[in-house]
Amino acid sequence: PLDARRVAPASRVLIVSNRLPSTVRVDEGRVQLTPSAGGLATGLRGVHDAAGSTWIGWSGAPAELPSATRREIALRLAEVDALGVPIHGPEIAGFYQRFANGVLWPVLHDRDDHPDPDPDDWATYRAVNARFAAVVAEEARPGDRVWVHDYHLMLVPRLLRARRPDLRTGFFLHTPFPDSMASLPQRRTLLDGILGADVVGFHTPAYAARFGDAVRATLGRDVELASGAGFADDDGRAVSVHACPMSVDAAGFAARATDPRVIRRVQELRAAGGPLFVGVDRLDHTKGIPERLAAFERLLDERPELRGRARLLQLAVPSREDVPAYRELRARVEALVARVNRRFATLAWQPVTYVYGSVDEVELSAMYCAADVMLVTPLRDGMNLVAKEFVASRIDEKGVLVLGEHAGAAAELRAALLVDPRDAGELSRAYARALDMSPAERRVRMRRLRARVDAHDVRRWADECLALLGADLQASERRGPGR
Ligand code: ADP
Ligand code: G6P
Repeated sequence: PLDARRVAPASRVLIVSNRLPSTVRVDEGRVQLTPSAGGLATGLRGVHDAAGSTWIGWSGAPAELPSATRREIALRLAEVDALGVPIHGPEIAGFYQRFANGVLWPVLHDRDDHPDPDPDDWATYRAVNARFAAVVAEEARPGDRVWVHDYHLMLVPRLLRARRPDLRTGFFLHTPFPDSMASLPQRRTLLDGILGADVVGFHTPAYAARFGDAVRATLGRDVELASGAGFADDDGRAVSVHACPMSVDAAGFAARATDPRVIRRVQELRAAGGPLFVGVDRLDHTKGIPERLAAFERLLDERPELRGRARLLQLAVPSREDVPAYRELRARVEALVARVNRRFATLAWQPVTYVYGSVDEVELSAMYCAADVMLVTPLRDGMNLVAKEFVASRIDEKGVLVLGEHAGAAAELRAALLVDPRDAGELSRAYARALDMSPAERRVRMRRLRARVDAHDVRRWADECLALLGADLQASERRGPGR
C-alpha cells in the first residue's frame, strides 16, 4: 500500500454511520429526502459540508425497491455527497430495530431490561457490518481517512482493517459507555471490533475510562488511559483513546435567534403569559420524558398559584417507531399528558402542550428562545446536544437550564441546575427553583454556560477529532466540498 502521509494532501474524509444526514422515504413511488433527527446527523452535517467528505450510510429505505427508484435514491444521495449501503427489510428488523436499538442501545445506557439478543439478529448485525466494511473498502482511496460512528457499526473498524490495513480509521461512540456490559454475550467481539480503529473517541473522560476498564476486564488487554490514552492491539499497533465532547454550531444558533421569523414566533409562543417550560427530545426511553411530566404535575400540585399560568411545551420527535419499547413509551407519555391536562386544564388554560412530530429550524429556535425554563432531563444520554443548542440560542442571557446529571453535557455545563431526574421530588424542586431564581443569577449562570459552548463548538470538536485522525479540516475547506 501507498504511504498515507505522501498522499495525504489529496485524501478525503469518509464519514461512516448507519444514519445519513438525510433520510429517504418512498411514498407511492416518490422519493422524498428529509433532514435526519438526532445528534449524530445534526452534529456531523456541518462538518460534512466543511470537510467536503463523503458520507457512507443507510438511506433509511429498504433495499427491495424497483431499480429505477434505487437509481433515483442513489442520485439524490450523491447530490449531498452521500453513498447508500443497501439494507433489506428483514435486515432492518434484525440489525437496526432488534439488535442495535432493542439490545445495544439499552445496554449502552446502563439498562438491563432489554430482551435477550437473538442469535439470528446478531448474525444479521455482523452481516450488515461486513457490508458496510466492504462498501468502505471499495470506495476508499489510498490515504483517505475513515471515520466510523456509533453503536450500529462497532465491528466495522476491525472488518475494514482486514480488508484495507493501509487506511487510518477512527471510531466515535455517540452514546454513553456503560458501567457494565455483562448482560451482553457478544461484548468481546464488539469491543474487539472497535479496537480495529487507530483512534477511539468518546464524549467524556468517564466514558473513555469505562471503555478502558471493559477492554481490560473482557479482553484482558492492558489499557493506559492516564498517560494520554491508548494501548497496543494484538499486532502491536497503537490504538489511542480520547474524550472529545461533541457540540453544536453555536454561532449559527446565536444568529438564528435574531431572525425576524424566530422573533415573531417567540412572541406568539409567549403570548399567553405565565412561565413557559420547554422540552425537545426524540421520543426515547433514555430521555426521561415521563419523569419530567410527573414532576410538572407535582409542581402544579404543590404550587397552586401556578395553575392557570405555567405551561409545558413538549416536542417529541418520532423515533424508531417499529421498536416495541418505543411504541410502549409513546402510549405512556401520551397517557401522562392526558392525565395532567385532565386534572388541571380550564377552558382558558391547558398546562401541557404536547407535539408528536417534527418542526423546522425556525420553530426549534423559537422554542429555545421562548423558554423560561428548558428541561433537559435524560435518565442517561451520551451528550445531549439539545442542552447546548438552547444555551447557544440564548443571546439574551435569560432562561434557566435544568439538566439531568447523567447527560454527557452535564460534565461541561456545570452552571446549569443539575438534577437527578429519577428523584421526582428533586426534579420538581428544581423546576420551582428555576422559576424563583433572581434575574441576576440567571444571567450569571447563562453567561457561564454560553462561554463554555462558544469556546467548545462543533467546529472545535471536529478539528480535534480530525486532527487525531490525521485529516486537516482547513485543508479540506481550501479544496472545497465534493473533492
Ligand atoms: P439524540 O441524539 O439522542 O436525539 P441530542 O440532544 O444529542 O439527542 O440531539 C438531538 C438533535 O436532534 C438536536 O440537534 C436537535 O436539534 C435535533 N432535532 C430536534 N428536533 C428535530 C426535528 N424536528 N428535526 C430534525 N432534528 C431535530
Ligand atoms: C442517537 C444515536 C444516533 C442516531 C440518532 C437517531 O443520536 O446516537 O446514532 O442516528 O439517535 O436515531 P435513529 O435510530 O433515527 O438513527
